[in-house]
Amino acid sequence: MTGKPTLAVVGATGAVGAVMLQILSQHADVWGEIRLLASPRSAGRKLVVRGAETEVLALSEEALEGVDVAMFDVPDEVAAHWAPIAAAKGAVVVDNSAAFRLDPDVPLVVPEVNPHAVRTRPRGIVASPNCTTLSMIVAVGALHAEFGLAGLVVSSYQAVSGAGRAGVDTLRAQLSLVAGTELGTNPGDVRRAVGDDTGPFAGPIALNVVPWAGTLADDGWSSEELRVRAESRKILDRPGLPVSVTCVRVPVLTTHSLAVHARFENEVSVERAHEILATAPGVVLCDNPAAGEFPTPADVVGTDPTWVGRVRRSLDDPAALELFVCGDNLRKGAALNTAQIAELVAAEIGAA
Ligand SMILES: NC(=O)c1ccc[n+]([C@@H]2O[C@H](COP(=O)([O-])OP(=O)(O)OC[C@H]3O[C@@H](n4cnc5c(N)ncnc54)[C@H](OP(=O)(O)O)[C@@H]3O)[C@@H](O)[C@H]2O)c1
Repeated sequence: MTGKPTLAVVGATGAVGAVMLQILSQHADVWGEIRLLASPRSAGRKLVVRGAETEVLALSEEALEGVDVAMFDVPDEVAAHWAPIAAAKGAVVVDNSAAFRLDPDVPLVVPEVNPHAVRTRPRGIVASPNCTTLSMIVAVGALHAEFGLAGLVVSSYQAVSGAGRAGVDTLRAQLSLVAGTELGTNPGDVRRAVGDDTGPFAGPIALNVVPWAGTLADDGWSSEELRVRAESRKILDRPGLPVSVTCVRVPVLTTHSLAVHARFENEVSVERAHEILATAPGVVLCDNPAAGEFPTPADVVGTDPTWVGRVRRSLDDPAALELFVCGDNLRKGAALNTAQIAELVAAEIGAA
């Protein structure tokens, strides 16, 4: 390859795609041509990247010609079909969907945790984890490197933009129906006010929390809960790690939060955990409850790092820590991690 690599952003018009275009405009420019692709519905739209209006093209074999790196920010079934086509045309695919994350021939990469994995990609595809996994794994990975992780129990508080533009539109529409009312004081009154169409959620999301994300899997688990378990094991290279997750959707636009109970192989101290988290790349320690300082989505949204607070040693287990973690699901939880992986690939193919 001569010159800078050509990048395709597939799904440039979506919730993740929009943040990707911001990131590409903010990061050091390692790319030559940047091609913006989406469904035929969006062909001809103009989006701004690196300060220049760029026309969106419909995803097609022709549009993938000459692409060196292709980021896929599209639904699973679209990625499952088109990522192998892009790879067969010579592109390295960095996929944000769930289509390939657990494929043993596809590395699942978080650059702060397992950057080496990006180099072994037999299918020409590298996967980026789910936003819920990504919202905790950088902090958990840093603690694992020191203490050795023995198990995780996680409860999530997931923002609606984790369900894409449809999730954001649903919360905004429902908030306009309940604002300034006394709703939320009688059983079913919020449900009646927002109507039967709850968008991508399993119940009303305004003035409510919904203990469900994804589809129904075996034994009552949700697909999202099983994903966080399987992806954490794969990223940390701990196939048998006990991981229990309960996923809950909350009326926050963007930034997932997680309450994490992390059990380690050895005794832990809050002091050492603070030192590790304060110096880990990609992590911000924000832990001073006496001063009212802990991460919240309202403060974290729009930032890159994983924010960690409420670090406590378990009262019952000297080898366990309790943490509260927040991460912007559209930045580190999606677009930023994909961009970081793509930049590792660009450096590798540029050096080849
Ligand atoms: N939202 C998050 O927090 C998050 C986090 C991690 C991973 N992800 C994953 O990232 C992917 C994108 O999510 P999103 O939230 O950005 O979804 P979204 O807002 O619904 O956007 C979907 C994108 O895919 C494009 N698309 C849909 N069907 C297509 C087709 N047949 N051919 C080409 N393009 C097509 C859409 O183009 P049009 O505008 O033309 O329809 C749009 O650009 C999903 O796999 C999701 O699971 C999302």
